[in-house]
Amino acid sequence: MSLGTPLSPDERAAFERDGYLVREGAASGADCAALRARAEALVAGFEPSEVSVFLAHPGSVNGDRYFLESGDKIRCFFEEEAFGPAPGHGRALVVPKQRAINKIGHALHVLDPVFAGFSSSAAVQAVVASLGMERPVALQSMYIFKQPGIGGEVAIHQDATYLYTEPTSVVGLWWALEDATRDNGCLWVLPGGHRGPLRSRFVRTAGGMQNRVLEKTPMDELWPADALVPVEVGQGAMVLLHGLLPHASQANRSHRSRHAYALHFIDGACQYPADNWLRPGPSDDGPEPAP
Ligand code: FE2
Repeated sequence: MSLGTPLSPDERAAFERDGYLVREGAASGADCAALRARAEALVAGFEPSEVSVFLAHPGSVNGDRYFLESGDKIRCFFEEEAFGPAPGHGRALVVPKQRAINKIGHALHVLDPVFAGFSSSAAVQAVVASLGMERPVALQSMYIFKQPGIGGEVAIHQDATYLYTEPTSVVGLWWALEDATRDNGCLWVLPGGHRGPLRSRFVRTAGGMQNRVLEKTPMDELWPADALVPVEVGQGAMVLLHGLLPHASQANRSHRSRHAYALHFIDGACQYPADNWLRPGPSDDGPEPAP
């Protein structure tokens, strides 16, 4: 297993069996440093004209305009706990701006030269080409900070809830840009859980967004919390996530951040319903939503 090679037959078998795969050392230290420096520069240049707090608690729905229009932009979303006692009202940050951002999304891979270069590198292409997609399309990118002390939880979910195609095709590539451990909010996954159904869909409605439940089995029965396993990885590791794999991360109550970069691909040969939240813009070569 080396940098920039396609998935080996063993890796592919493990991914198909477990719904996820860890490849340590997939990104070099220099790449991790470059992405971190670029994210830092983007936050430094961010002048909040609008405050959008990203929430990922069980049942949270991010349906504000700033979020919904971010599919073809580079936008910064705040941590809930970055604000004082009245989050979203007083707007008073209780931490410096660079410690207040939850994530940057969702078109870094298109609009930012550093992220675009990394996202379209030969190493990434080699992995994606071995996933069996007819026409891989990089649809969404996120820089996730998991800030020290206040980095919010991400409740258990499947990525296909948010990037839905028929049939399901989304695959996430997630790079640890810093060591990710239980203490600072590493990923937790349900091995083999990708063989279960899609539990819900995040759909645009006339009034905003709705999380439409598709599977009636109670969540704790479908995805027992005690069956989740932590994915503790070193800086530079890539975690490949099947779009139906239930995964989560806990709040970061440690003093160390846990930066990560996530890039999601879908198969452009699959149908991409127009009620997906993310509408690729003219600068994206992704699929056009159906009329
Ligand atoms: Fe996810």
